Amino acid sequence: MTDFPKDLFDLSTTELLTPISQAVTFRRQLIHYPGFVGAIQAVERCHAMGRHKLEEPDCLLVTGVSGCGKSTLRKTYADRHPRVELEDRTVIPVLHLELPSQPTIKNVAERILMAMEDPFAARGSAESKTARIIKLLAECRVELVILDEFQHFVDRGRGVVDYKIADWLKQIINAARVPFVLMGLPRCERILEANEQLRRRFSARFELKPFSVRTKESAREFKRILSTLNEELPFPDRSVIAGADVVSMMFYATNGLIDYLIKLVSKGIEIAANEERNQIDLNVLARAFSLAIFQQCSDETNPFHPDFIRRVLNHQGEPFHGYA
Ligand SMILES: Nc1ncnc2c1ncn2[C@@H]1O[C@H](COP(=O)(O)OP(=O)(O)O)[C@@H](O)[C@H]1O
Ligand SMILES: [Mg+2]
Repeated sequence: MTDFPKDLFDLSTTELLTPISQAVTFRRQLIHYPGFVGAIQAVERCHAMGRHKLEEPDCLLVTGVSGCGKSTLRKTYADRHPRVELEDRTVIPVLHLELPSQPTIKNVAERILMAMEDPFAARGSAESKTARIIKLLAECRVELVILDEFQHFVDRGRGVVDYKIADWLKQIINAARVPFVLMGLPRCERILEANEQLRRRFSARFELKPFSVRTKESAREFKRILSTLNEELPFPDRSVIAGADVVSMMFYATNGLIDYLIKLVSKGIEIAANEERNQIDLNVLARAFSLAIFQQCSDETNPFHPDFIRRVLNHQGEPFHGYA
């Protein structure tokens, strides 16, 4: 192969300079805010139990509204415990997957088998799939299973379906002696209520909460996170995002959700870098808000506009409609 001069063909160096790639680099960073660290620790505790093969392993339920960071938590934790390819098997310390939107025992069993690389994942009855799951969990030396989007089970069924699935999960947990972490929207609590034995098993709960400015302490924490983000910005001057009077605007613009926070700031980076500005100011934030979060916003519903009327934007058609 011809050896091209590196500086001409190494896209990664030129890419770093474009506004979009600067925004993407920012988006890729993980923020270790207290709620996230607490959630990781809760999963760690559950995992530690799994290593001891207790007869009735204690499981964990992680709940949180959409965009609060559950899937990021799942992927981060799994990345820290990667698969290992041995000659005779794949060792999967942490098996993790998202449940399908219309879950049945059969299609969930199939997904779990696929995640363990079973070439015949689609074959067999629900019973035979369940038996293979139990066998493969042992063969792949799985220590922890994380199921995300667990609310799909709750959405589907009332009564009968819930019991069936709860019983099925309990059967796997007991037979494999592997703890499960279930993740999903707050209504996931309901499926556990439907089954007393499973409820007992999932007595450990962790709620991944959005940031808040309701109390002095929570507002201080939110400000600290904004300051951390501020330090990561690729501009020579300090941006306004963590300024004392801007913290509440940042809250109204994101409803405290990390998803929107990252979207807003990365759009701000893109705009400011495009215009070769030295920092992100309120004008940039106002435009970033309308581009990344609320396209139809008016001056009164743009938290960075002087005419903003201070309220949570949760009316019909607004970005946080449906959030508490
Ligand atoms: N700890 C974190 N650090 C940085 N960004 C995060 C973190 N958690 C979540 N995010 C951002 O928020 C977005 C949505 O998070 P996600 O984990 O998909 O939420 P959920 O699964 O609860 O709906 C992610 O794509 C990512 O940009
Ligand atoms: Mg998710």
